[in-house]
Amino acid sequence: PLTAKVNQQDHLEIGGCDVTALVEQFGTPLYIVDETTLRTACQQYRDALKRYYPGESLVLYASKAWNCLAICAIVASEGLGIDVVSGGELYTALQAGVPPEKTYLHGNNKSLEEIQLAIESGCTVVADNWLDLHTLAQLSQQSIVDHPIPVMIRFTPGIECHTHEYIRTGHLDSKFGFDPGQLDEVFQFISQQPGLACIGVHAHIGSQIFELQPHNDLGSVIIDTLTKANQLGLNISEVNIGGGLGICYTESDDPPSIEDWVKIVTESVIKACEQKQYPLPKLLCEPGRSLIGSSCVTAYTVGSQKQVPGIRTYIAVDGGMSDNPRPITYQSLYRVVLANQMSAPITEQVTIAGKHCESGDILIKDAQLPKVESGDILVVMATGAYNYSMASNYNRLSKPAAVLVNNGDANVIIERESYQDLIRKDRLPERLTVNIN
Ligand code: LLP
Repeated sequence: PLTAKVNQQDHLEIGGCDVTALVEQFGTPLYIVDETTLRTACQQYRDALKRYYPGESLVLYASKAWNCLAICAIVASEGLGIDVVSGGELYTALQAGVPPEKTYLHGNNKSLEEIQLAIESGCTVVADNWLDLHTLAQLSQQSIVDHPIPVMIRFTPGIECHTHEYIRTGHLDSKFGFDPGQLDEVFQFISQQPGLACIGVHAHIGSQIFELQPHNDLGSVIIDTLTKANQLGLNISEVNIGGGLGICYTESDDPPSIEDWVKIVTESVIKACEQKQYPLPKLLCEPGRSLIGSSCVTAYTVGSQKQVPGIRTYIAVDGGMSDNPRPITYQSLYRVVLANQMSAPITEQVTIAGKHCESGDILIKDAQLPKVESGDILVVMATGAYNYSMASNYNRLSKPAAVLVNNGDANVIIERESYQDLIRKDRLPERLTVNIN
């Protein structure tokens, strides 16, 4: 899906830009985001929903995957809405020009300020628990806005899926959403709040999922919940079936296409509505990884090497777990290429290590590569999702820059942090500045 090729210099080219030239201009580590790939994924979701779902629909970008001004602006310009999970994500989306009526605030522990910001800006709040509902009910009595506050109810659908246990959310023992057993009480409560407009129900089962069956099951569970809410006196017309479609990180990954995913989800919602003789609700989904994941790569410069005789060769790069915490957190696998010598024959098996003071700071174990020298440019593929958004300053490494490439143009969308940036929020109390030396 990435608009990449090998150019005449045998270098990797993305979005019409030679990666080695980008690295010369912007340094490493460098996140390189291909605008066409991101826009294509947005269009695939949008078009598939139009094709397979006769009712109204809206795709929300789950911006936790990577929330920054430029990415929010691109997805919004494709007509998508946005899912945010904090005041910071919400603020960024609004600053990027995302329409508030297409912005949904999630979170299992929202602060009062976050909820207030969402309401004042005209966003929808997804109530995750009783504290959310009580806060919303209270705020709705303070006439902050002159219309009922739009609210969705998130519940745990009780659907298991096969993905890493840290990124499963649909099983009943999850911290997210109301337990299904509480829903009657929730719907009754909200129907008695004239200041709250309950517009929909939401469920999300997990992330990096390759099976379609759990999403098929979710379609009927969510329509059951919708009909139950309306029997209890609500007038719900939206359902959100979350995100979760996996992407291809290595050659052995074979996820369903966006189109297949949309087809299954819509078929199951349509079928459930037919069985219940119910009108089709407005259908929302909120993919994150499958929108942004494949559209970005990370370029690193190779530095030192270490041979452990008979065991392995470590190749160290100038980033690591601070710019990509996924391998150390979830044992995630990635594919790597030698960007300055794309067709060199594969001769080595090496382990790509980061530069952090941590033995587990390994980006890729046993990568198959040509002979790698220091100064070479290694590019790790498919780093758009949950990389920058989970990046840290561990060991006081500066967060890398991100550039957006398109048709041979490259624009910085996030500046590289400087050393000054790193100490900007540090404070040295006066008494500590004397007597040094
Ligand atoms: N909606 C909700 C309510 C979510 O919690 C998530 C992801 C999404 C949508 C988007 O899911 P996606 O389409 O991206 O799979 N940091 C982990 C992933 C955490 C996912 C959290 N929620 C990772 O790096 O794999």
